[in-house]
Parts: sequence; structure tokens; C-alpha cells
Amino acid sequence: MFLITGVTGTTGSLVRQLLLDRGLPVRGMTRNPSRPDDVHGDFTDPESLRNALRDVTAAYLVTASPTPDHDLAFLAAARAAGVRRVVRLSAIGTGEVFDGSVLAPHHLAADQALAAGGPAWTVLRPAMFATNVLHTPVVNLTGDAKHGVIDPADIAAVAVEALLGGHDGRTYELTGPEALSVPEQAAILGRREVVDVDPADIDPAWRSGVLWARAGHGARLTDDVARVLGRPATRFEQWALGHTLA
Ligand SMILES: NC(=O)c1ccc[n+]([C@@H]2O[C@H](COP(=O)([O-])OP(=O)(O)OC[C@H]3O[C@@H](n4cnc5c(N)ncnc54)[C@H](OP(=O)(O)O)[C@@H]3O)[C@@H](O)[C@H]2O)c1
Repeated sequence: MFLITGVTGTTGSLVRQLLLDRGLPVRGMTRNPSRPDDVHGDFTDPESLRNALRDVTAAYLVTASPTPDHDLAFLAAARAAGVRRVVRLSAIGTGEVFDGSVLAPHHLAADQALAAGGPAWTVLRPAMFATNVLHTPVVNLTGDAKHGVIDPADIAAVAVEALLGGHDGRTYELTGPEALSVPEQAAILGRREVVDVDPADIDPAWRSGVLWARAGHGARLTDDVARVLGRPATRFEQWALGHTLA
């Protein structure tokens, strides 16, 4: 049995569908189950994690907390349940030092805890998701800086390969095939409403990551998607064709 956390979210929903397409047994974890193959699970409720992880062999771990607490609770429960493999969604730049700050310390702590023992693991560190520009208005935190923007479906496809094995102990930095700024992405998608945010107005917890990206560090490109999937990462224009405004 595969357990997909964040199953109502951007990549978790895609990971679930890809596993179902392969005819594999999947359980989706959410705080608000709405499907027969969903289970109630909350990272803040250990009993719910014990229940969600029953008979699970491999899990996809997505957290959206600014601290590693959710990850640590999940890992403790996964170890107790005998889960054999965990694939964790982290973020590009995690652990790098910029302007005197360690980037994404919550992701770093969680990735290190995962690697420190217990199930086999794979860490995925994606660049900016293409889907970010679907928000209305498009919020631009990074000025004209470019990003190796990635189709979340590529992240999900890599996650599925990792869940199936052969990628244990690996950390992948997942990017698209080209670097584009947020205004460039919005223009390709035909979105006119772009709101520029001053870094001074950003929550201090997230500011160093934004400044790192504004300095252009998120523009780097890797071939990790192609190496895992055996095909190139999806171009932003290609992704945008399926996401034009209604
Ligand atoms: N967006 C980007 O450009 C980007 C780039 C790199 C990395 N990332 C990373 O991607 C991760 C996900 O980000 P996202 O904004 O895209 O999230 P998301 O896909 O919207 O998913 C958030 C998921 O977390 C679940 N969740 C939240 N609190 C929970 C709790 N207490 N217990 C159980 N489940 C809980 C939600 O499920 P329910 O509400 O159904 O319970 C939801 O499915 C983050 O770690 C972020 O750092 C994002």
C-alpha cells in the first residue's frame, strides 16, 4: 500500500493518480476525506498517523509547515509502522547559506531527519512550480529574476519512480528545461494581473529564500528529471497549453 500525504494538494493529487493509473494500491491522507480511498490524517494527531500508516510500504511526504514538526511526527509514526520507503518533497536551495542565513531550515531539518535512519528515502528539491502563476492575481516576489520553473506533473512522475524503488538515498534537484521570470511566465499564460511584492513586506521567515531567488540562484537548471524519467522535463509553454484561462 502506498500512502500519499498532501493528496489534496498540487503534487500529491498527481502522484495518487499516476499510481492508480498503474493499478497500484493507494491511500490518500487528508484532514478532510472525501473519497473512499482517502484516510483521515493530521500531522498534529499521532493516532491518526498510526491509522493512516497501517500496512503502508511506501509513503510520499508533503508538509506545508514552517517548522519540521509535521515531518518529525510523520517519520516517527512511519518508523513505528515499519514503512520501508519515504519520498519527501523538499525545495531547491534547501540548506544553502545566503546573506548569512541557512535557507529553508525546516526542510533541511526534515531532510536530515529522514536521512538519519529508518526507511529508505529519496528527497525531491523542486524549483518554483509552474502552477504558482495560476493564482489570481499572479504574485511576483522575485522581480525579474528567473527560475527553473517546473511542471508539477514532472515532480509527481519522479516521485512515483522513487516510490517504486531504485532511487534510495538520492537527493534530486528538479527543474524545468528553461529559466523564466514570473512576469515571463505570466505573459506566456496570458495573465495580465501581476502584483509585485517588495521583499521588505515579506514574512521574515521566508525572506532569505526570496532574496536568494531574487539574486538569480533559482535560475539554475538540472537534468535530474530527464535522468529519472528518460525524457526531457516539460517546457513551460507546453504546460501552459493545458492551463489557459477559462
Ligand atoms: N509552490 C512552489 O513553488 C514550491 C517549490 C518548491 C517546493 N515547494 C514545497 O512544496 C510543499 C507543498 O507546498 P504547496 O503550497 O504546493 O502545498 P499543497 O500542494 O497546497 O499541499 C498542502 C497539503 O498539505 C496538507 N496538509 C496541510 N496541513 C496538514 C496537516 N496538519 N495534516 C495533514 N495534511 C496537511 C493539505 O491537506 P488537507 O488540507 O487536505 O489536509 C494539502 O494537501 C511545501 O513544502 C513547499 O515548500 C513548493
